[in-house]
Amino acid sequence: MKNQTVLITGGTAGIGFALAQHLVHNGAHVVITGRDPERLANATQRLGCAGYLADSTQLTQIQALAGDLQRDQIKLDGLVLNAGVFFPEALATTREAAFDLTFNTNTKGPFFTLQALLPCLKNPASVVFVSSIAVHKAFPGAAVYAASKAAFEAIVRVANLELAPSGIRINSVRPGVTATEIQGKAGMSSEAQAAFYETLKATPFGRVMSPEDQVGAIEFLLSGHSLPLRNAVIEVDGGLLL
Ligand SMILES: NC(=O)c1ccc[n+]([C@@H]2O[C@H](COP(=O)([O-])OP(=O)(O)OC[C@H]3O[C@@H](n4cnc5c(N)ncnc54)[C@H](OP(=O)(O)O)[C@@H]3O)[C@@H](O)[C@H]2O)c1
Repeated sequence: MKNQTVLITGGTAGIGFALAQHLVHNGAHVVITGRDPERLANATQRLGCAGYLADSTQLTQIQALAGDLQRDQIKLDGLVLNAGVFFPEALATTREAAFDLTFNTNTKGPFFTLQALLPCLKNPASVVFVSSIAVHKAFPGAAVYAASKAAFEAIVRVANLELAPSGIRINSVRPGVTATEIQGKAGMSSEAQAAFYETLKATPFGRVMSPEDQVGAIEFLLSGHSLPLRNAVIEVDGGLLL
């Protein structure tokens, strides 16, 4: 990925941050986005990369991001649609606000980010969507989250045909349980997280995955090694689904 330019949405924490760190370390030009100015400034300083404020639920901010990239003459070899949220809640009690925020962040956000950044993508360019194994495996409390990821995977299928003439390919990674801030943001206490992670010792991988464990698959899909792939899905789940 040396000298390749890659934009990662939601690069302030977790998988996005770990990917940015790895790519910067390996000589890529990395641009991250974030929704919180302080967290973005902190992450870009730690990473030594560029950062743009763009809340992926806000279309005006997405359009401003596209304008800023064009103004700064940044052309992308890779785009990682990573920003996402998870609000676990049973179907019986899920409220409209949580439903809308999940779809606005996980489905509508990447859709309009991809649309707005089309003029910034090189030919060829690789787009990677960070989906979830929740598309494949039912977890109680994850109905809306799973649907939001499945919906964007459906968009990926169509977009691969529409965008092929522009040299754009889109593939997905479906992480399994990965120890990031997402569980805490979902309201899980650190004790509950530790107990949950303990159960993952029973998987073939033998432990909960770290954000760094997700990096290799995403890097492969960004790289020229995946040039013929379209709509591929790599499940990085430590064998949880076996
Ligand atoms: N961790 C897992 O077990 C797991 C499993 C399957 C799939 N995933 C997927 O992996 C992706 C990364 O999640 P993670 O586990 O690394 O979580 P994380 O540590 O919470 O990181 C999520 C990133 O997305 C950003 N973000 C959230 N909402 C945003 C918005 N509206 N606009 C812009 N940025 C936004 C966050 O910003 P802030 O720093 O401001 O919060 C953060 O940078 C997500 O799409 C998630 O669904 C995670």
